[in-house]
Amino acid sequence: MNVEKVKQALSKVNDPELQKDLVSLNMVRDIKIDGDKLSLTVMLTTPACPLKALIEEECTKALVAIGFKPENIKINMTGEVRQHNIQGKEGPKGISQIIAISSGKGGVGKTTVSVNIAIALSQAGARVGLLDADITGPNIPIMMGSQDPPIVENGKIIPKENYGIKYISMGVLVPPDQPVVWRGPMLDGVIKQFLRDVVWGELDYLIVDLPPGTGDAQLTICQAVPLAGGVIVTTPQDVALLDSKKSINMFKQMKVSILGIVENMSFFICPKCNERTEIFSCGGGENAANTFGVPFLGRIPIELEVRIGGDSGKPITAINPEHPISKTFKEVAGQIAASASVTTFNVRQPVVMI
Ligand SMILES: Nc1ncnc2c1ncn2[C@@H]1O[C@H](COP(=O)(O)OP(=O)(O)O)[C@@H](O)[C@H]1O
Ligand SMILES: [Mg+2]
Repeated sequence: MNVEKVKQALSKVNDPELQKDLVSLNMVRDIKIDGDKLSLTVMLTTPACPLKALIEEECTKALVAIGFKPENIKINMTGEVRQHNIQGKEGPKGISQIIAISSGKGGVGKTTVSVNIAIALSQAGARVGLLDADITGPNIPIMMGSQDPPIVENGKIIPKENYGIKYISMGVLVPPDQPVVWRGPMLDGVIKQFLRDVVWGELDYLIVDLPPGTGDAQLTICQAVPLAGGVIVTTPQDVALLDSKKSINMFKQMKVSILGIVENMSFFICPKCNERTEIFSCGGGENAANTFGVPFLGRIPIELEVRIGGDSGKPITAINPEHPISKTFKEVAGQIAASASVTTFNVRQPVVMI
């Protein structure tokens, strides 16, 4: 048995999303053979890869086929997020992928999704930041549990940190009851400052929570940085879907990859009788994704604890990671990360549905 034979076996295992084998993708590392024992690392494109377990299983099968016993195989499944490069656009140093969360209309749960998927990505092992680009209606500080101002050092803002997430928001720079009454160019300036003058450090993902619609903040983000892609959050009813079409067209016009659609508030399960009610109907997000030819990233039900977690600054994914809805957020986060990996590899293929 030797390293070459192991590589040969693993060159038959594909990353289902990138549709290439693990060896050509340079994902197989640190192969160590000690008698009949084998250990190796599989370096995926994101620690949040939703197909981690499946790929591990396929690797084990391939290695058993060349004579290793399953109990003698040790695979360290991990991931490193690759830098998303767009020619002619430079993002903040040290940030691998910037992902914008958008919606056609307000109140559909953009901020809720941004916060919970940021936490889910961090729980999967990624380094994550959260930028609140909703300058006039900043909700990130409430949902992240602290509205106190950040420290400023040598003209640079040290981002706030909670639940393992670094974050910045206009809501920590102005008193909570003060309105921010600003014109477009001023919004542009502060968003650029949030990108360039905040000490983000090394991040795998910077999640950007956009205001609703297709205005100045969206333009600034799309133009200023090499976005890995945009996610559209919608509720399932027709009026929200109609608005999300505008978001999709905006990203298309700005030549930003669309990572997919998340359907929020899909249904409600009564905690007393378990009856399922589709308050805003259900399935519209997936239909829209199919119609527009973009990935569907999953559906999130209406859940009392999500709302309470948001209002109290204790996001459910952080406080109760074993709750079924936290698992749903983890699945959606995995789909978003996978879609961003595919975009970064520039080999867009349909992303596996949940
Ligand atoms: N899946 C959900 N279940 C229950 N409440 C939710 C859910 N998603 C969002 N909410 C609540 O709906 C309100 C609006 O959500 P928010 O994230 O602020 O939307 P947006 O950022 O799109 O305006 C908030 O009070 C939030 O707690
Ligand atoms: Mg919001």
